[in-house]
Amino acid sequence: MNDHILEMRSITKTFPGVKALSDVTIQVERGEVHAICGENGAGKSTLMKVLSGVYPHGDYEGQIILEGEEVTFGSIRDSEKAGVVIIHQELALSPYLSIAENIFLGNERKSGLLIDWNATNVQAAELLRRVGLRENPATKIMDIGVGKQQLVEIAKAMSKDVKLLILDEPTAALNDEDSAHLLDLIRGLRDQGVTCIIISHKLNEIRAIANHVTVIRDGQVIETLDLQSGEVSEDRIIKGMVGRELTNRYPERESHIGAEVLRIENWTVHHPQQHDRVVVDHANVVVRAGEVVGIAGLMGAGRTELAMSVFGHSYGSNISGQLYLDGNPIEAKSTGAAIRHGIAYATEDRKKYGLNLIEDIKRNISLAGLPKLAPNGWVDGNRETVVANDYRRSMRIKAPSVAVKTGTLSGGNQQKVVLSKWMFTEPEVLILDEPTRGIDVGAKFEIYGIINQLVDAGKAVIVISSELPELLGICDRIYTLAEGRITGDFPVADATPETLIRYMTLEKD
Ligand SMILES: Nc1ncnc2c1ncn2[C@@H]1O[C@H](COP(=O)(O)OP(=O)(O)OP(=O)(O)O)[C@@H](O)[C@H]1O
Ligand SMILES: [Mg+2]
Repeated sequence: MNDHILEMRSITKTFPGVKALSDVTIQVERGEVHAICGENGAGKSTLMKVLSGVYPHGDYEGQIILEGEEVTFGSIRDSEKAGVVIIHQELALSPYLSIAENIFLGNERKSGLLIDWNATNVQAAELLRRVGLRENPATKIMDIGVGKQQLVEIAKAMSKDVKLLILDEPTAALNDEDSAHLLDLIRGLRDQGVTCIIISHKLNEIRAIANHVTVIRDGQVIETLDLQSGEVSEDRIIKGMVGRELTNRYPERESHIGAEVLRIENWTVHHPQQHDRVVVDHANVVVRAGEVVGIAGLMGAGRTELAMSVFGHSYGSNISGQLYLDGNPIEAKSTGAAIRHGIAYATEDRKKYGLNLIEDIKRNISLAGLPKLAPNGWVDGNRETVVANDYRRSMRIKAPSVAVKTGTLSGGNQQKVVLSKWMFTEPEVLILDEPTRGIDVGAKFEIYGIINQLVDAGKAVIVISSELPELLGICDRIYTLAEGRITGDFPVADATPETLIRYMTLEKD
């Protein structure tokens, strides 16, 4: 008989107008890594929030059996006491506090009534050693990258005697190296007897690390597959997720490349605070009508900085160089000016720059293109709803209506709202920064289709992505960027992952 540490029986959870989970039953074996896969909005995060007491007992139907006994958590605190710890999709560390303070936040090391700083720092240092993070525990969270923040979250979980660790898309924002390190850490935890549940859209990682995968579609369990034999392919998992075979991950496109649309010439950008630090160094980039151009580079190469500085100087200081649109020099020193010139930038960080989560979907979509809806000075609300509904249909945004708050959407569906918003400005040049991060395979295909429609209509698209297969699958041409400099310019036919990586890692001589 299998030893199940967890069983969730017939879980049903509804939100106003949405049945997020319907009669979901899953079983997790003690000491395994159990993956959960499914399209955006399938209900993965909701299921884990039910398990960890974010949605307390009474807020859902069904039963949770942990180590053979029914549990009825009223809060996250309760689940943590039972050894269940969740690391959420959106990291929840306090940027202004130190690593050590974050690890013991709400769980302070005390001697008497006072915080014992000595114990805090010593124990934090030990936990950092266990997760393989070489940082001073006194360093502030805002001074370390997302990869390291993810490790701090795990250290924090380990400080709580975790038996069952839940990771909701832990590697979505990580580069390959940080992801590999994190997966190793999860393997190490499994060897120490910690059971892990991991949600991810990266199916190669799931195959590499998980013992079982449970596939959820539209709030229901489709199947649980045993991955230990190694015979279950990515395509097989995708079939469960989307309900059909997806034979081609990238839609076909015939390219018709026309005249030059945007030329970025000798573009040099300095750090916003450290004015003598060069972040983008004499970059030259051209994109033509009907062309999809990729930018490949490692973390810190300056990809986002290049894009944001071009988009109305929204990043950097002391910017020099020249932009040309259709061959004519332009000035675009504010985002408003950039938008008027037909340049749009859809950001990788939807929380910070892309969306207003307490506004409804329709206003988020219309915001950047509002002048189009307000020819007489006031916004035509009916038209706004019609436009938003068109995007909801074409982008397949999963939401009961366009009047719901954007913050209630699943992560991937929020990303689709960001894309809709920029499409609505009908840009001549659309710059997409990690457009498919956290997006499921089916929706990725749709987004690629939308990019194709744009270029078929003669627009120009620049895509920044950390996933080389994606760039190779959708671009006509790929630039490599290393330490702020453009190091290569490859027609896609001449590009292989190996060449790209070689030019992405070229060092300055
Ligand atoms: N607080 C909420 N209020 C209303 N609806 C919600 C809320 N949270 C989630 N939903 C809805 O429940 C459904 C499931 O969302 P959930 O976040 O669980 O999806 P997910 O599988 O984690 O997707 P993703 O891969 O995009 O993160 C979605 O339709 C979502 O819009
Ligand atoms: Mg989710």
